[in-house]
Amino acid sequence: MKDLESNISTYASKVSSPEIMLARASSSSLLVDQFGRKVDYIRLSITDRCDFRCVYCMSEDMTFLPREEVLSLEECARLVKVFVSLGVAKVRITGGEPLVRKNALWLFEEIGHLPGLRELVVTTNGSQLEHQAEALKQAGVRRINISLDSLDAERFRKITRVGDLSKVLRGIAAAKKAGFENIKLNTVLMRGVNDDEALSLLNFAIEQQIDIVYIEEMPLGEVDHTRDSTYVSNDATLKLLQHHHMLVSSAETTGGPAKYWRIPGTRSKVGFISPHSHNFCETCNRVRITCKGELYLCLGQEDRVDLMPLLRNHQDDDGPLVQAIIDSMRIKPKGHDFDLRRAEPAVVRFMSHTGG
Ligand code: 5AD
Ligand code: SF4
Repeated sequence: MKDLESNISTYASKVSSPEIMLARASSSSLLVDQFGRKVDYIRLSITDRCDFRCVYCMSEDMTFLPREEVLSLEECARLVKVFVSLGVAKVRITGGEPLVRKNALWLFEEIGHLPGLRELVVTTNGSQLEHQAEALKQAGVRRINISLDSLDAERFRKITRVGDLSKVLRGIAAAKKAGFENIKLNTVLMRGVNDDEALSLLNFAIEQQIDIVYIEEMPLGEVDHTRDSTYVSNDATLKLLQHHHMLVSSAETTGGPAKYWRIPGTRSKVGFISPHSHNFCETCNRVRITCKGELYLCLGQEDRVDLMPLLRNHQDDDGPLVQAIIDSMRIKPKGHDFDLRRAEPAVVRFMSHTGG
């Protein structure tokens, strides 16, 4: 990658240099959209592949991208460095399942200690954590999100179609042992599938002294069921949990869309991400990059910029890439537009493609 100082000076005519100095000094982002929202968080999907086939995420017969269409790990590292030079302070590596990508650890090591990067976090299904948790921690990963939708082995297999619960539980144990600052379970409840486990999953989180976030199912990609047949509102889940635990509303945020509650006497936070019942777009601070190098300005809209050609056609010059990223802020949409009653998915791409 070309020296960051020279990238920045190349673009000094477009973006005034005091602003750049300020952004870098205070790590506030240079990326501000037309609604005044500052983008300081990127989610980068490093593979669309996964060793699971969760029913809400994929159809049974998924076809994955040919390897040459996917960013190399070097390209991923270059992208992260450019975004951080523009003031991005938080990076989440996602997939697909990021840890099934060969040599994924190299990427974490390459970016983990970048000056200006405050938080490197990862979203995983936990299947590889048993062997990788410690190395991820060493590489500089601060927090980790692990998907867990059931504590019943048979049901877990049904939801993931192929997953092995015991492996994931061993992965959670390994993550705890590695000593991440925070471990969070991500749970998608589906009516008639696992909605009766809301409480037992929370109790598990409390017992493990970790956090849990309930995510409402989002209409991303065509799956084998209609989304409104399985929709469980987070408001209903919250009510149910309140029958069993005292939940105290908390103003805490982890820089994401989750609304948090504390349970006095425990170390766990309970979060809710509710794209349907609560619109979180107003405070959106993130953009997503797919494993093909498409910069999506919103999870629920199609507005995007293709970064792959800029990476491949300008291998020694970050200038065009930097410019495209700065310019992309103009097309960041105001918000998503999820409607469960629609027959077709709100967006045709899967979460595994865009990154969760
Ligand atoms: N709706 C909601 N959550 C989803 N995830 C994957 N696909 C969907 C979807 N369509 C979840 C995964 C993971 C998190 C990042 O997103 O379970 O925990
Ligand atoms: Fe894989 Fe995560 Fe999608 Fe499940 S939700 S299939 S673990 S990418």
